[in-house]
Amino acid sequence: MQTAQSLARVVDARVVARREPAAGVVVLDVRAPAIAAAAGPGQFVMAVPPSAGDTSVALGVYDVAEDCLSLLFVVVGDRTRRLAALHPGEMLSLFGPLGNGFDLGAGANDVAIVAGGVGIASVLLAARALLRRGSRVRLFYGAATAARLVDRERFAAAGCEVVVATDDGSEGTEGFVTDALARAAPADLILACGPTAMLHATAHAAHAMRVPAQLSLEETFGCGVGACWGCVVPVASENGVAYARVCREGPVFLAEELRW
Ligand SMILES: Cc1cc2nc3c(=O)[nH]c(=O)nc-3n(C[C@H](O)[C@H](O)[C@H](O)COP(=O)(O)OP(=O)(O)OC[C@H]3O[C@@H](n4cnc5c(N)ncnc54)[C@H](O)[C@@H]3O)c2cc1C
Ligand code: FES
Repeated sequence: MQTAQSLARVVDARVVARREPAAGVVVLDVRAPAIAAAAGPGQFVMAVPPSAGDTSVALGVYDVAEDCLSLLFVVVGDRTRRLAALHPGEMLSLFGPLGNGFDLGAGANDVAIVAGGVGIASVLLAARALLRRGSRVRLFYGAATAARLVDRERFAAAGCEVVVATDDGSEGTEGFVTDALARAAPADLILACGPTAMLHATAHAAHAMRVPAQLSLEETFGCGVGACWGCVVPVASENGVAYARVCREGPVFLAEELRW
């Protein structure tokens, strides 16, 4: 898995652009050259909103362009509300890049990426890297309803084949995105990020298709750096089951190593 813990740093970053691709979803582009240069697919940052003391929130590195990185987030509580209130010119603190991201497997020429809801925020860098090296990339993107789908044009413009599924059938096929995945021709590799139930279903589909899968977990984080053990998940070990910290050993795990 991609890792850059040793490159992680704290920076003060200026917001250079802000948009709302859907109601309650915000994308901030922030100037943070050191983090932008080091961030790999599937890694995350801890973002400290202004006036939030030392309270930070884990967010995937959505995109990178020159000395800026993009953060895409859903406004759910106090910290994301504070971040959503930022406008161009204002500052926030970032710590990162953190975590072990996706391993893009040199031999994988046909990759299926499964994204559910805000899970879309953690897969664009992987798609871009795979496309750059000539792999076919199919994005299976699921959301409750069409209004919650964001930036699918951005993935299509990058060169992904985009398959959409919505729970209510308002765009794409009706039903779970993992059903669309299971109906499609098998890929060489599956990468996924989204709600736990979606990750479970992805693991089942991958197992049935005999395709290796890497799953990015979005456990609730405390410290985000491996100190509090508040984010552990059971994983296979030589002695049966052990506990791994999602923030430190993850957030990306092989589907077969998780014991959930
Ligand atoms: C590695 C990692 C990467 C992440 N990347 C992203 C990302 O790129 N974009 C993003 O939007 N989020 C991402 N998250 C999730 C984000 O860190 C949480 O949503 C965070 O708890 C929000 O903080 P808050 O203070 O705004 O809300 P909190 O105070 O933590 O939560 C407020 C309320 O909303 C509920 N809640 C918490 N999280 C969610 C959720 N995801 N959906 C619905 N309800 C929720 C809680 O139960 C609580 O009742 C990531 C998490 C991890 C661990
Ligand atoms: S959040 Fe503290 S150890 Fe992972």
